[in-house]
Amino acid sequence: MKTSTQPPLFSLLLIVIIFSHGTTSISQQFREAPQFYNAPTCPKMAEEKEQLICSSDAVHVAMTLDAAYIRGSMAAILSTLQHTSCPQNVFFHFVASASANASLLRSTISASFPYLNFQVYHFRDSAVAGLISTSIRSALDCPLNYARSYLADLLPPCVRRVVYLDSDLVLVDDISKLAAIPLSGGRVLAAPEYCNANFTSYFTPTFWSSPSLSLTFANRKACYFNTGVMVIDLERWRGGGYTVRIEEWMELQKRMRIYELGSLPPFLLVFGGEIEAVDHRWNQHGLGGDNFRGLCRDLHPGPVSLLHWSGKGKPWARLDAGRPCPLDALWAPYDLLKPPYSFDS
Ligand SMILES: *[C@@H]1O[C@H](CO)[C@@H](O)[C@H](O)[C@H]1NC(C)=O
Ligand SMILES: *[C@@H]1O[C@H](CO)[C@@H](O)[C@H](O)[C@H]1NC(C)=O
Repeated sequence: MKTSTQPPLFSLLLIVIIFSHGTTSISQQFREAPQFYNAPTCPKMAEEKEQLICSSDAVHVAMTLDAAYIRGSMAAILSTLQHTSCPQNVFFHFVASASANASLLRSTISASFPYLNFQVYHFRDSAVAGLISTSIRSALDCPLNYARSYLADLLPPCVRRVVYLDSDLVLVDDISKLAAIPLSGGRVLAAPEYCNANFTSYFTPTFWSSPSLSLTFANRKACYFNTGVMVIDLERWRGGGYTVRIEEWMELQKRMRIYELGSLPPFLLVFGGEIEAVDHRWNQHGLGGDNFRGLCRDLHPGPVSLLHWSGKGKPWARLDAGRPCPLDALWAPYDLLKPPYSFDS
């Protein structure tokens, strides 16, 4: 925020300094987070990563990791640890593009979170590249956006349940409460549902005018849900072959345009009306504004456990530009990026 008040020449100098440091210094640009300790009441866990990664007492969290969003990921991790009473029992599963420098991402995370339990997985972009059709917002077309459909294959089979989180959110409540939500009736996913949203608008007239396609939702009370925060039963996912079911819709989309957004509509097609509805407090979404202009948005009424800047505008970009939305002030306390104007690295 402060940089914007500097004259342009000064800003230019800063950019030159940052670039001359090169990519290897990415980890030095972030502060180290404090260490977080379990409350005495927490289940006692194995110290070894190999055992923790398979522990059903651990809270398993999956996120994607890439250079563009790493500042958001860091804030999400910090907020998760800060608000849970058993931070040492949280295990992070990070999915990175196979073409990214995984050792750099790993060392960046370790430098800021030396005590974090985590594992980095390689996602072969080519696995989905051929299935992606362009959407209305190019950021949604990034292959890594589709990694959430492959968690059941990427994570070890011993991990039976995972909370998937986008990188543009912060928690202000204990993630273990979200992770423990029961999935009744053999359900595979849990997420907040929005039945007032106009479900029709997520699919094209081509979709609705096809007698066979529009029957997809015939016997379901399908409502919109946001795929940025989901509790996934990985065992049921694997058993039901849901990755293939999602891919089948993506293949159809390549042949005829049945929706406009990126990775979300296939989830609606496969799971709409069949998810476990979670309290809305767990995904106060849309804070990034709409997909076109990224205008400021207000919170939905009701309590808040998780703030999600879905939409075009990201809080770090708006803060850097000196044009933050009022709610971006709630993201700022979790920002681990060292201010470039303090030359104290
Ligand atoms: C990846 O990052 C490491 C620093 O962690 C660096 O030493 C290495 O040269 C990088 N590799 C590539 C291929 O850029
Ligand atoms: C829902 O969206 C569709 C397509 O975008 C539109 O035709 C319809 O009028 C909308 N319905 C309501 C109730 O807004």
